[in-house]
Amino acid sequence: MTTRARVRRTALAVGAALLLPLGVAQAAPAGDTQGARGIGDPYYPDYGNGGYDVDHYGIHISYRPSSDRVAGRTRITAHATQDLSRFNLDFVLPVSSVQVNGRRASYDQGRHELVVTPRRPLATGEPMTVVVRYAGVPSTITSDGAKPWIRTADGAAAVGEPEIAAWWYPANDHPRDKATYDVSVTVAKDLEVLGNGRLVSRDVRHGKRTWHWRETRPMAPYLAFFVAGQFDITRSRADGLPVITAVASHGGPEGRYAAADLKRTPQVIRFESRLWGPYPFDAMGGVAPAADFGFALENQTRPVYTRGFWSKGPNIYVVVHELAHQWYGDSVSVHNWRDIWLNEGFATFTAWLWSEKHHEGSAKQLFHQSWRTFPSDDPFWKVKVGNPGAHNEFNGAVYVRGAMALQALRTRIGNAAFMTVMRTWAAEHQYGNGTVRQYIALAESVSGADLTSFFDAWLYTGRRPAPTEANGFPP
Ligand code: ARG
Ligand code: ZN
Repeated sequence: MTTRARVRRTALAVGAALLLPLGVAQAAPAGDTQGARGIGDPYYPDYGNGGYDVDHYGIHISYRPSSDRVAGRTRITAHATQDLSRFNLDFVLPVSSVQVNGRRASYDQGRHELVVTPRRPLATGEPMTVVVRYAGVPSTITSDGAKPWIRTADGAAAVGEPEIAAWWYPANDHPRDKATYDVSVTVAKDLEVLGNGRLVSRDVRHGKRTWHWRETRPMAPYLAFFVAGQFDITRSRADGLPVITAVASHGGPEGRYAAADLKRTPQVIRFESRLWGPYPFDAMGGVAPAADFGFALENQTRPVYTRGFWSKGPNIYVVVHELAHQWYGDSVSVHNWRDIWLNEGFATFTAWLWSEKHHEGSAKQLFHQSWRTFPSDDPFWKVKVGNPGAHNEFNGAVYVRGAMALQALRTRIGNAAFMTVMRTWAAEHQYGNGTVRQYIALAESVSGADLTSFFDAWLYTGRRPAPTEANGFPP
């Protein structure tokens, strides 16, 4: 679902109505018109697919922690962007049936790819409803070395980046194809399920409870999540929006620290809205399972945090980081995975500004501290954060060198121009995607400066930038 796609579809509908007798627009395309197996991401040729654009996912699954079995059906509402004799979905669980526009379709499952052949080919612009039924055990499946499924003591967490969607629902799994979501998860009635957005219902039927979550703003597939287990859920409202936070029951001292920090979610979002512009979503919150999976993820409206972040006490910085991603990462998403600096550098820098605001070290001081921590011969400087390489997106340098680059830019073009660049970036690409090259072009147009050598030094060179005025020194 992209603005451009919507415009294109409208233009097409108008053109077809004017020029073509009814029915001709949907005539069968000639020959084999298979959709591409990937969307065209240079790091991950299999991620996403070609030939269609998803508008909505309706996911209905049941989950049983003891067997780790996911069973259910997903209804995908999409439209073809080319004539399509077949198309792919990214999916790894065993499929039992596929329907396209109400008719049984044939399908083939390879690793990571579900290839669907509809009874009748689809024409450019044609709406398509795809219903996939499936069942399997996600923790048993490895695909191209990825095994992202997380089991917890009493449930699971479908949380991962860049991959997780294919382990629980069939998707066009790339941030370039955003969609809205209804996610219903049925579990034993003594368990809780958290998901994105608003809680629509949690009804009990035949002794089981179905948790229905709804995300109404465009969302990248990897940001859709569910977590099942025993949780203490807190519901409130802030700034006119529902706030739902959840901490694993019996979480010990770490759980108590997590609960205290998650309670500050509205305060953090207020701070970040003053910096970057209006909060882009219609719900907020956070989830802290009792599990150590080693990272936190900025799931849209409701990030999920590994317990380890609270092993040494309170840690508001991780909450600030994940919530900053609501602007940079979730609302404005990468166009290709190589654009990850736009997420991690920006979220890390936002945490530096929180530190500055709370007198725990200014961004300038944090810049200098990082400069001292990583001498010029440190491998840290080898990472070209503007294009760090496949499977290297979450290298610490993307975060820290990435934040240093923003502080240097702030010095180079001045705070006022810098803030304009950041806010304009969030506004112009809201609910969409962006590339590092587009960000650089925006920074140049706002500041009126030629920043080619600045960004080469900070983002594209495997060496420490020279401490020159042109590179934003002294920061
Ligand atoms: N975007 C996450 C963050 O805020 C990082 C996720 C890393 N993913 C992973 N599977 N380790 O830092
Ligand atoms: Zn991050």
